[in-house]
Amino acid sequence: MIRRAGKARDDAIADNAPTKEHLDDCRRCDLWEHATQGVPGEGPPGAPLMLVGEQPGNDEDLEGVPFVGPAGRLLRALLDEAGIPAARVYMTNAVKHFSFVLRGKRRIHKTPLQRQVAACHVWLEGELVRERPAVIVTLGATALAAVIGRRISITDARAGPIADSQGTPIVATYHPSAILRAPDHDARAALRATLLADLVRAAKIASGAGGKRRDAAGQGR
Ligand code: URA
Repeated sequence: MIRRAGKARDDAIADNAPTKEHLDDCRRCDLWEHATQGVPGEGPPGAPLMLVGEQPGNDEDLEGVPFVGPAGRLLRALLDEAGIPAARVYMTNAVKHFSFVLRGKRRIHKTPLQRQVAACHVWLEGELVRERPAVIVTLGATALAAVIGRRISITDARAGPIADSQGTPIVATYHPSAILRAPDHDARAALRATLLADLVRAAKIASGAGGKRRDAAGQGR
C-alpha cells in the first residue's frame, strides 16, 4: 500500500522507480533466474493514465517491453477504440519478471505468488510516486491487489469509487487476457465491452482531474 508522505519521502520512494538495470540486477525474489530480463514500465513523462498489468508474458519477456504480446495488442486496440492516445498512457506491471512453467518447450504463464508480488512492490510504488498519474487502471486481480494492498474482487472494486492511499482514483477492470480466454463469443463480447467502457471512464476521470498527473499533495495540475 502506498502511504501519503512528505516531499522528501516521496522523492526517496520515487528514486525506487526502476530502470532496466535495476530490474536486471533485481534479486528480491527468484523470478529473475528463469526470465530473460526485467521489464520496466513504459510511457511518456506526465501521462495521466497509468495502466497496471500483472506481469510480462512470453513476448514481453523476450522484447523487454510491456504489453507487446497478444493481450497487449488487444489492450492497445481497445485504447485506440476508446480514443486514448498512447501519449496519455504509462503501462507497467505489478511484477517485472515473467513467471511461467515449462510445458515441453512452451513457457506457460503462471500467476505470480503473493510473496513475489510483495517483493516487487517497491518498484511499483516507485513508479506510482514518480509518475503521479491522475488515474490508475488496474488490469486483473493481481494488479488491483498490488496497488491497494489487499485482495478484493474486481466486481466489488468496480461497484464503488476506490482510490489508492495517496487519493489517486483507481479504475479496476479485467485483464485483456480474460477476453482472449473467454469460453465463447458472448462472454468475449461482454468482457470486451466492459473493458472498453472502463477505459473510457478512466480517461473521463483523468480529464476531470485536469487531464494531468497529480502533484505530490495529490492535486491535479
Ligand atoms: N500481461 C500483462 O499483465 N502485462 C504485460 O506486459 C503483458 C501481458
